[in-house]
Amino acid sequence: RQRVAHPARKYAGLDVGCNAGDLTYILRDFLKEAMSQDQPEISLIGVDLDPILIEKARERNPSPDCVTFECLDFLSEDCSEVLRRYLTQLNKTRFDVVFCFSITMWIHLNHGDDGLEEFLRKVCELAEMIVVEPQPWRCYKNASRRLRRAKLGDFPLLKELKYTRNPMKHIEDILRRLCDFQRVTVTAGNEWGRMLLIYERKQES
Ligand SMILES: C[S@@+](CC[C@H](N)C(=O)[O-])C[C@H]1O[C@@H](n2cnc3c(N)ncnc32)[C@H](O)[C@@H]1O
Repeated sequence: RQRVAHPARKYAGLDVGCNAGDLTYILRDFLKEAMSQDQPEISLIGVDLDPILIEKARERNPSPDCVTFECLDFLSEDCSEVLRRYLTQLNKTRFDVVFCFSITMWIHLNHGDDGLEEFLRKVCELAEMIVVEPQPWRCYKNASRRLRRAKLGDFPLLKELKYTRNPMKHIEDILRRLCDFQRVTVTAGNEWGRMLLIYERKQES
């Protein structure tokens, strides 16, 4: 598909909920390989709210010149500010791609249906294209069970959720209805039954 995705031969990616960076490094190598003909300058930023994980990601970073990590809550205003500045430095207004691997459930459980909508709106505002790997409903149940078994109560918002049973369907609906993004493809389930939703911004006519 032809897109004006990397003017000035710069390609920028964001990895939301990057954990200790292991997947971020792999994504960087994947992008480099996938765009080896074009050879754009690839820059990736990973954000996670856990300072220990970010410290680890920074320590082991094999490409500190083009991959950076920031400890931020993606839903915070601070995060928006840091990402705006990051894009400005690259002379860009949006990321070419935003990755959200295995994070939607945590946003949903901790911030409810409204939080999930806000999260996806924010991701889409920042992106030309998004890759989302939603956790299925059984993972929500397992997460809740683990918390209860550890005598830590339950996720207070779990009972109030309306987007239940099939999170992927609800996420696709939010992406189309609220974010005005369109489906590129949905991959077949991997060995854990997870699928990747790949969506993109509609081209302005
Ligand atoms: C299950 S891990 C996924 C890690 C990695 N993306 C992967 O797929 O291997 C989810 C990560 O999201 C992070 N996270 C959860 N809520 C977040 C938020 N509001 N802002 C930034 N990171 C968040 C957690 O700290 C955790 O490291």
